[in-house]
Amino acid sequence: MNAIFTGRKRSGKTTLAFDMAMLNDGGIIIYDPKNEWRGWPGEIRDVAQLEEASKKHEIIVFHPQGNPDEEFSLLGEAILRMHNVAMDKGWDKKDFHFTLIVDEAVNVSTAKRINPVLVQLVAQNRPEILSIYLTFQSPKDANNLLKSRVDHWFIFNTSLPSDLDYLRDEIGVPDEDLALISDLRPHEYATFFFDGGTPVVEFVYDPDTWFRPLEYSELNANEREEVKEMARRDREEKDSLQDLFEDFLDWMDDRSSSLRRRSSRDDDDRDRSRGRERSFRMTGFDRGRDRD
Ligand SMILES: Nc1ncnc2c1ncn2[C@@H]1O[C@H](COP(=O)(O)OP(=O)(O)OP(=O)(O)O)[C@@H](O)[C@H]1O
Ligand SMILES: [Mg+2]
Repeated sequence: MNAIFTGRKRSGKTTLAFDMAMLNDGGIIIYDPKNEWRGWPGEIRDVAQLEEASKKHEIIVFHPQGNPDEEFSLLGEAILRMHNVAMDKGWDKKDFHFTLIVDEAVNVSTAKRINPVLVQLVAQNRPEILSIYLTFQSPKDANNLLKSRVDHWFIFNTSLPSDLDYLRDEIGVPDEDLALISDLRPHEYATFFFDGGTPVVEFVYDPDTWFRPLEYSELNANEREEVKEMARRDREEKDSLQDLFEDFLDWMDDRSSSLRRRSSRDDDDRDRSRGRERSFRMTGFDRGRDRD
């Protein structure tokens, strides 16, 4: 599912996107330019740390340090490669899945401009493998190229007339629902999607059912256990984000095997538990490979 979470400031967009990602199986990669997720063990400040972090953590929080748009491009390229490896490996049939949260997506999309890597991501991602959740204060910032590739909208209180017009004219939200949307209280929201050609709007009025703090240290004991249990289940029962990175490394090894295959290595009997001797910079690798 590609989804946009929109609504006025402090309405709960980020929290809901996170909760929904937490309910998905598999890993979560969070683009967090506003430093909302704090204290998570899987925090990184450089995309080059993504691979290392993914070996240890199911949830990775990326805090861009430089230009948020350029940093997104680096992250997006890495995710695109992971997605494509997953495709090559047939993960769409293996029931593996991971989620990318793009918080404050106005950094990478406005009516006038959209980050080209984001376009590639939403144009290419297979819903069986990768869900992309974006949060926007104003729905108008969802660039047309993005809008046409989003299937679900989560709409919190929206009262600006130009935003309501946009929801009606560009997204197709029926008038009677717009009136209800402008009356929503904090943390109440509407879900909007098309079922066949028919617009469907559902209202959710019970914020307590999905509230979840973003700060790791604020998670109460049960929630923290829940996160750990989820990660454990993923590792034991099905392919996880960690496995995807393992596959990614295998794929890279395969690509360069004619040059560098170690004689002691048996390709068909890889022992993942032995760990890997070689580390790499995901961004550096691809640039090098493109020049080949
Ligand atoms: N379901 C909820 N129940 C109670 N409090 C909530 C709920 N969802 C969010 N909050 C609280 O409301 C505040 C705003 O939430 P959040 O950051 O998710 O909103 P936002 O729409 O992303 O805000 P912003 O526009 O600033 O990015 C936070 O303090 C959060 O903990
Ligand atoms: Mg937010």
